[in-house]
Parts: sequence; C-alpha cells; structure tokens
Amino acid sequence: MPAVPDFKALANPAIRTLAAYDPGHDIPSLRQRFADAGGLLELGSNENPFGPSPSVLPAVHAELQLLHRYPDPSGMALKREIARLHGIVPERIALGNGSHELLMQLAQVFAGADDEVLLSRYCFAVYPIAAKAVGANLVFVDAYPAGHPMALGHDLDALIAAITPRTKLICFANPNNPTGTWCDSAQLSDFLARVPSDVLVLVDEAYIEYVTDPALTSVLAHGARFPNLIVTRTFSKAYGLAGLRVGYAVADPGLLALMEPIRESFNLNSLALAGARAALADDAHLCSVVAQNAAEREWLTGELRSIGLTVLPSQTNFLLVHFGPETAAIEQALFERGVIVRPMAGYGLEDYLRITVATRPENERLLANLKAVLS
Ligand SMILES: Cc1ncc(COP(=O)(O)O)c(C=O)c1O
Repeated sequence: MPAVPDFKALANPAIRTLAAYDPGHDIPSLRQRFADAGGLLELGSNENPFGPSPSVLPAVHAELQLLHRYPDPSGMALKREIARLHGIVPERIALGNGSHELLMQLAQVFAGADDEVLLSRYCFAVYPIAAKAVGANLVFVDAYPAGHPMALGHDLDALIAAITPRTKLICFANPNNPTGTWCDSAQLSDFLARVPSDVLVLVDEAYIEYVTDPALTSVLAHGARFPNLIVTRTFSKAYGLAGLRVGYAVADPGLLALMEPIRESFNLNSLALAGARAALADDAHLCSVVAQNAAEREWLTGELRSIGLTVLPSQTNFLLVHFGPETAAIEQALFERGVIVRPMAGYGLEDYLRITVATRPENERLLANLKAVLS
C-alpha cells in the first residue's frame, strides 16, 4: 500500500485550520426520527415556512424536459428580471449558487494575505470563513453591548474607526443574522460616505424583504453613488427557495467582471433559474409572505416576552432570544421533543437561541414545548 500523503501539509496554509460552516443538525435523519411523533419542527435555519409562490413548481416542472442540456450559462433572463426589479442594468448583477457562493468569490478576488477584512462581532458565519480561506487577517469590531438601544447590532462608527491602509473589505448583513438587528438607511448612507473609496463594502441583504421599519430601505438605492458598494441578496428566505440555491450580487460592472473568471461554469442549474424567475414574477405572494411573517414575528415576540424571556427586536424572519445559563439544556430538551432551534455558542452568544418565525400553528407548538421545558 502506498503511504497516505500528509494532506494537511499539502493543503494551502490558510485552509489547514479552517473549520467548515456549521449547517446545524442532520435534518433529513431527524425528519425520519420524528415522523411518527407529530413531525419535526424546523426552526433552526431561517427558512420560509410559507413556501414559494405556487407558480414556482410548474415552472420548475417544465424545465425537467431539458435536463440533458446545460442551463443558460449567464442566467441572462433571470438577470434581466432582477435588473428590472431594481431599476438597474443587468451588467450590475452576478448570480450565485446561493449568495454563499458570491461571498466566497468576493473574498477570493479582493482579499489576500496581509489584507484586513473588517467584520462586525456577531456577523454571519460565512464571512470569516471566506476571509480566512484566502489568508486575510480578520479584524472583529465590537457590536453595541447588551443594554444599548441597538444591543448586539453593528457599531458603524467603530467599523469606520477600525479602517487602516490594509483594510480591503468590510462585510456585514443588514438586517443581521444571527441577531436580527438593523441599521437604518440614514446611518448606512452616512457610513458609506465615510468609507474610503478603495475599501470595498459588502452589505448582505439576505433578509431585507422582511423589513417593515420604514426607516430602513435597501442600500441598493445608493449603488450608483458608491462604486465600492456590493449588495448581496438571496432567494432562500422571503422567496422561499432555499432548496434551489439562488443568490445575486449587485455591484459595479468592473468589480463583477473580476469575479467572473472564478465563477463555476453553469453555476446556477436550470431548475433554479426557472424557479427564481417564477418567484420573482409573483409579487403578491412575496407581499403575503412578508405580511404574515411580520404579524407572526410580532405575535411570537409578545408571547415569548410574556413568559419572561428577553427577545431582541428583529426585522427578519427569526428572533434571538436570551435563555441564560440553562440555554444548552433548554435547546437539548427542545431537540428531544422534535423542536429544532439554533444554538448560538459558535457566535459567542452561549446564552441565546435563534428561533425562526414560522406559521401560527408552528409558533404555537414551539410555545407549548418551550413552556413545558421551562417549567
Ligand atoms: C446573512 C446571510 N447571508 C447569506 C446567507 C446565505 O444564503 P444563501 O442561501 O443564498 O446561500 C444567509 C443564510 O442563512 C444569511 O443568513
């Protein structure tokens, strides 16, 4: 038998110590385990419990006739429709197999060894992975402390103060995952105006469709004013297409042109392209999802607070809830009852659980289980 090489020694040094993205529990096997016990209650991944537009399924089905053909390599039809939605040209759009893919590409193209990537504490877990994978130095900037009106939210002034000549990229989500917190439009435009033009800013708007606070609108409105701004969006949340994997970035065409050579060929499959187009065309469904989420978010927040829990304000489809020192035991007890929520220890928020806002019957089931566990 030939000797097995020391793969770790062979690997790119930046990759050797990298921990993989943690997607949570093994959901397919848990679905089987709890099939006869009322089913699994999946509240751990911020998916859309209302599902996609009813027009998605026939559109995806129609594509099955062409499975032996490669998909549209540029996804131009989808880009045109996204461009129409935002009132921009398709050249300002890049498509990704989920926005996760675009976050990885962005770091790969624009950050390298010796560069600094600025991140807000409690940022989405993919940004540090993307930055570490290319050997960049991560600089974490403290978020607002508990007790502050924007507790755990991004401190944009602190991010500005942390910029150095080595800073290449600043990344944050607005609203943020896992905290659900947000910066309003005035704060964002003031921030963007203060960032030097050779520092790129990624604003990840994965949850923007869920926002109901009129003080926050998409930063896309500022796109032309700030050529260093990249905005990412996803069809995985409000559009209900997490299983199809479709995301996009909006940025200056010159910036996107540099990402194109490392894009995997045909990175969006034909079912994903067709499904996303159908979802995009059904504005009424999106509005209904957003309205139902907003109503359930408010109701669930009130119910959780009424049993003495601290719930962070949220503009997303999930809530960050403080459970204190018993958090891990509570999460485990919910798990044993088939209720999946997301532990936050990996984010340094050991005393919190993140809970997806679901349908009313699902939210009621969560509450009943939670009350039983807490008593
Ligand atoms: C803030 C944020 N950005 C990006 C993503 C990735 O989304 P996608 O499914 O498009 O890869 C997520 C997924 O949870 C997220 O929370």
